[in-house]
Amino acid sequence: MRLLNASGCLDALTAPEVARSLDVFVTKTVTPLPREGNPPDRIAETDVGMLNSIGLANPGIERFCSSTLADLAGLGVPLWVSVGGFSADDYAASCERLDERAEVEALELNLSCPNVDEAPESAAEIVAACRSRTRKLLYAKLAPNGDVAEVARAVEAAGADGLSLVNTIRGMALDATTLRPRLGRGVGGLSGPALRPVALAAVFTCRRVAELPIVGMGGVETGSHALELLAAGATDVALGTALFADPDAPRRVRAELETALAAHGFERADEAVGVAHSGDFVRIS
Ligand SMILES: Cc1cc2nc3c(=O)[nH]c(=O)nc-3n(C[C@H](O)[C@H](O)[C@H](O)COP(=O)(O)O)c2cc1C
Repeated sequence: MRLLNASGCLDALTAPEVARSLDVFVTKTVTPLPREGNPPDRIAETDVGMLNSIGLANPGIERFCSSTLADLAGLGVPLWVSVGGFSADDYAASCERLDERAEVEALELNLSCPNVDEAPESAAEIVAACRSRTRKLLYAKLAPNGDVAEVARAVEAAGADGLSLVNTIRGMALDATTLRPRLGRGVGGLSGPALRPVALAAVFTCRRVAELPIVGMGGVETGSHALELLAAGATDVALGTALFADPDAPRRVRAELETALAAHGFERADEAVGVAHSGDFVRIS
């Protein structure tokens, strides 16, 4: 099992020690052109998690490749680049551009940002377009809404090498006094504790229909939470919102996971992968 950060939840260049405490660093999503993102406020805390409406603010693929990538590679941590876009060709062009970069171990296709209005083509079409333009490992990052198992099946058939589950779900918070939205964009993506059962269900259902390795994420704050995702079928785990509150979370979660594994009689994390699927349970379609 590898411990990763969730895309957009760690700035490795301002917190290099945190990045080095992970097995893999995943970049914030990069789009073909620079984006300023959505108007402020772009973050709102709620009592069940965090809302964000960053809107894929990033320097664009050209500047990313000419400057950011070399700085990130200097960290000495395996690097995954999160790729976003607004058409299959957008994604595929960025994948082709990154294919030649030896510093990059894998590409994670962000097929699921809730904070942009432009509707991309189907996830499977995007994966197929990218597959034809890169030999790098391709992870498809999916949202938990809709029929996630069906999408998982389709992206596997289209040539994905892995799944990243899950992105945020749409949410909103109102200011208690003004009764106006707290986020500048109105709605945003909900992450953190509220997402934990949603992520578990997505990992569990996708494990049953796809053979692909799964990076599980969504509300992981402790080693026990990581163990639950493994049991549901994740092969790796990522920390997102937890990193904002606790930069020491990677070290702590790893230590807690060791304890939790031992308490369940597992010697290694791999032994826990998918154990929630054994025994009787009500079959879901
Ligand atoms: C502030 C913020 C920015 C994010 N930016 C991205 C992004 O650029 N690309 C992406 O695929 N996911 C992005 N996400 C979603 C996370 O990668 C992750 O899927 C989600 O937050 C669930 O994990 P968590 O509950 O542990 O935070 C972002 C999440 C937050 C909170």
